[in-house]
Amino acid sequence: MAVSFKDLGLVNSKELFAKAVKGGYAIPAYNFNDMEQLQAIIMACTETQSPLILQVSKGARSYANQTLLRYMAQGAVEYAKELGKGKSIPIVLHLDHGPDFETCKSCIDYGFSSVMIDGSHLSFDENCAETKKVVEYAHAHDVTVEGELGVLAGVEDDVHAAEHVYTQPEEVEEFVKRTGVDSLAIAIGTSHGAFKFKPGSDPKIRLDILHEIEKRIPGFPIVLHGSSSVPQELVKIINENGGNLKDAIGIGEDQLREAAKSAVCKINIDSDGRLAMTAAIRKVFHDHPEEFDPRKYLGPARDALKQLYVNKNINVLGSAGHAFD
Ligand code: G3H
Ligand code: 13P
Ligand code: ZN
Repeated sequence: MAVSFKDLGLVNSKELFAKAVKGGYAIPAYNFNDMEQLQAIIMACTETQSPLILQVSKGARSYANQTLLRYMAQGAVEYAKELGKGKSIPIVLHLDHGPDFETCKSCIDYGFSSVMIDGSHLSFDENCAETKKVVEYAHAHDVTVEGELGVLAGVEDDVHAAEHVYTQPEEVEEFVKRTGVDSLAIAIGTSHGAFKFKPGSDPKIRLDILHEIEKRIPGFPIVLHGSSSVPQELVKIINENGGNLKDAIGIGEDQLREAAKSAVCKINIDSDGRLAMTAAIRKVFHDHPEEFDPRKYLGPARDALKQLYVNKNINVLGSAGHAFD
């Protein structure tokens, strides 16, 4: 049976984005697949009083089960209320990299308050048509929609992109007009995963393209995917405790801070969370080979994840303190 996000206590992204663009900060979009990730995200965002976009990928949906996920999101709102002494921070439940209209529709019917339709691999005209179709269904349910123009290098769910195709600023105005989307993901040199730049290359994103896009669609909400910073202290812990991550490089926090001050109002982070959990778990396994109670390694992993997100909200995205603007 279809359910509205409003019945789950969730909000769409419309007002949150307007406030973030005006306030010069970005809302964290953190991916989750399991209970510990969800707990860490809710704890960190409540503690820092940050608005939150909870992201679910197609892979997460099949990993965790779509019905369970829906109740987990509903539970997250109740948990946030409990931690917030009766008042929950605003929480958006968002489909990350929706591959087609059917998946977006199914998520909307399952209580998502926001969806991304990732038509970045399509031609411009096909991308416009598919995105518009999703927008029509979503808006009829008061759900907000993120579209994408340009292609990120790396691996995106089922989409494998070998090289960046930067967003062309001259296309954004027409795309926004033709589709009616609420926000736009752009490709300016970020990419998914922990290996974003070749060793020895200049690890810079194209803020000049971002600023050019902003000029074309002033005040329109922009989204950055692939924005993990790949903290080297986490890579070191992983490698010192049996891991093998060579040449893992992310986006510098200073560049993300600068982007967050612009019309970038949603920043996607998944890989850093994976690194934080893996580092904590590897360390427990290395230091305490006698442990086999999952709470003894998932607990530290959850703590590490929470700390990582607290730091992001305060020092990188600037979203801390903006939950009730
Ligand atoms: O953009 C990709 C996100 O990090 C989700 O990754 O498809 O492995 O769940 P996933
Ligand atoms: P990272 O792999 O850089 O964390 O990006 C995540 C993302 O863009 C999810 O859509
Ligand atoms: Zn992404």
